[in-house]
Amino acid sequence: MRTNFIRLSQQIAGIFAVSLSLSAFAQSAPDAMYQELGAKTGISKIVEDFLPIVLADTRINAAFKDTDMERLALMLTEQFCEVSGGPCKYSGKSMTEAHKELNVTNAQFNALAEDLQIAMEKNHIPSSVSNKLVAKLAPMQRPIVTK
Ligand code: HEM
Repeated sequence: MRTNFIRLSQQIAGIFAVSLSLSAFAQSAPDAMYQELGAKTGISKIVEDFLPIVLADTRINAAFKDTDMERLALMLTEQFCEVSGGPCKYSGKSMTEAHKELNVTNAQFNALAEDLQIAMEKNHIPSSVSNKLVAKLAPMQRPIVTK
C-alpha cells in the first residue's frame, strides 16, 4: 500500500517535471532575439555598418552633422542589446530628449529604419529576425517624430 503510494507520487512528480520542461521549451528563451542578432559582438558589428549607411543617406544625414558618432554607436549598441532581450541597460538620453530639437518626420524615421534593415541584411540576419528588432523600435516613433 505504502509502496504503491510512493510509486504514484513519483509518477505524478515525473509528469509534472515533463510538463514543466515542455512549457519552458514551447516559450522561446527571453534573449532569443539577442542571440539571433549575434549577441554583443553581432550587434556592435551591425551598428558599425549601420552608421556609415545613415551618414551616406541624403534623406537623413543632415541631422547628424554635429553628432558624436562614437557615442551614438555605443548608445545604439546598448539600446539594441536591451530591446532584444540581452543583458544590457541603455544608459543614454530618453528618445524624447535625444530628438527634441531635430524636427524628425515620419519619412525620416522610416528612412532610418530602412538603413538599419540594410545593415542587418549585410550581416546576414534573416528578415524574420530583423523585422522583430524593427518592430521593437516602432513604438519609439511617437517620442522621436515631432514634425
Ligand atoms: C528607430 C529610430 C531611432 C532610434 C532607435 C534612435 C536612437 C537614438 C539613440 C539611442 C540616440 C543616442 C542618445 C544619447 O546620445 O543619449 C540617438 C541620438 C540621435 N538621433 Fe536617433 N534614433 C532613431 C531615429 C532617428 C532619426 C529618424 C533621426 C534623424 C533623422 C535621428 C537623429 C539622431 C541624432 C542627430 C542624435 C544625436 C543627438 C545628440 O547629439 O544629442 N534619430 N538616437
